[in-house]
Amino acid sequence: MKIAIIGCGTMGMIYARNLATMPDVQVCGVADLIQGRADRAAQASGATAYTDWEEMIKQEQPEIVAVCLPTYLHKTFVLNLAERGLHVICEKPAALTLEDATEMETVCREKGVRLFIGHVVRFFPNYRDAYKNAKSGRIGEAKMAHFKRFGSYPKGVDMWYHDRTKSGGVIMDLMIHDIDFSSWLFGDVESVYASITKPSSSEMEYAQVTMKFVNGAIANLTGFWGYPGEFTTQFEISGTDGIIRFDSNQVQSLDVKRVHESTGESSAVQVPSSPMVHDAYYHELQHFIDCIRDGSEPIVSAADACRAVEIALACEQSAKTGQPVRIGGITS
Ligand SMILES: NC(=O)c1ccc[n+]([C@@H]2O[C@H](COP(=O)([O-])OP(=O)(O)OC[C@H]3O[C@@H](n4cnc5c(N)ncnc54)[C@H](O)[C@@H]3O)[C@@H](O)[C@H]2O)c1
Repeated sequence: MKIAIIGCGTMGMIYARNLATMPDVQVCGVADLIQGRADRAAQASGATAYTDWEEMIKQEQPEIVAVCLPTYLHKTFVLNLAERGLHVICEKPAALTLEDATEMETVCREKGVRLFIGHVVRFFPNYRDAYKNAKSGRIGEAKMAHFKRFGSYPKGVDMWYHDRTKSGGVIMDLMIHDIDFSSWLFGDVESVYASITKPSSSEMEYAQVTMKFVNGAIANLTGFWGYPGEFTTQFEISGTDGIIRFDSNQVQSLDVKRVHESTGESSAVQVPSSPMVHDAYYHELQHFIDCIRDGSEPIVSAADACRAVEIALACEQSAKTGQPVRIGGITS
């Protein structure tokens, strides 16, 4: 499988390093507007560096393209790549509006190419194991959950994260991980209620969301950009017979930090550093590539990614109006 990467910032580097170690996969090209970033990803993956992504496609003829670009660019690139008949792995969130996300899914289907959106939390071992335990009935019927995700305020190239019209803000960008995971766990969402604190004077955005599910379950989510500590994720899933808890600050695998292997421009990504295992991004990419190889359905579908965007937008609307919002009932 020949795969190319567009965008060599934080996520592009994680993809480059992981794909470089994957059997039967060749990273043929990496493209970034910034030459130094393309060169860095090329060095990590053995690919050829480009500053012009269209030239890369012409020269390298990849079968799959990974889109690791700022969120506001996802739709344009995914549609363009689908028109060329290329399979696409695109970072989350799929897009900033439900219309754009749905169009991406529809066009890829019509063009006969696969579209995968990188909702990586489903591939983190602790989350995956919690899902399996909760679904197997180990804690009885799972009824309630808390999810927390605290990180530094991401910057991205040209500070694009700070522009809500480009990143969508903390719910769309960060909390969407837990929105997707809790929807996987509890199913269809009935309504959401949200509030956001974003002082204009400081670099932080804090959001709380309550999700009410059709099956009666409730999930409370907290997302925090600008947290002055280690990237932290926590959850608690409560059932009729027990509880499953996780705190990334308490659970430690071997901690190996190498000076020349920074994750890129921001510390907004949590990658376990144990040398014994592949990280969640490796498992996610391997899974998507396997789906292309054998035509199987992914653990997280493009339709799931559209649903996550819809829920995130409903949360934004609730935070604006101070009212609960029914899913399917977004008015703007
Ligand atoms: N799954 C996760 O855990 C996770 C974590 C962080 C970010 N993300 C998502 O990944 C995406 C990328 O985020 P990031 O933090 O890596 O951003 P970033 O700003 O670090 O990197 C984006 C790169 O794209 C390049 N670029 C912009 N326009 C281009 C163009 N036309 N052609 C070629 N290169 C171009 C920029 O120069 C930059 O290097 C976002 O959608 C973000 O939400 C996901």
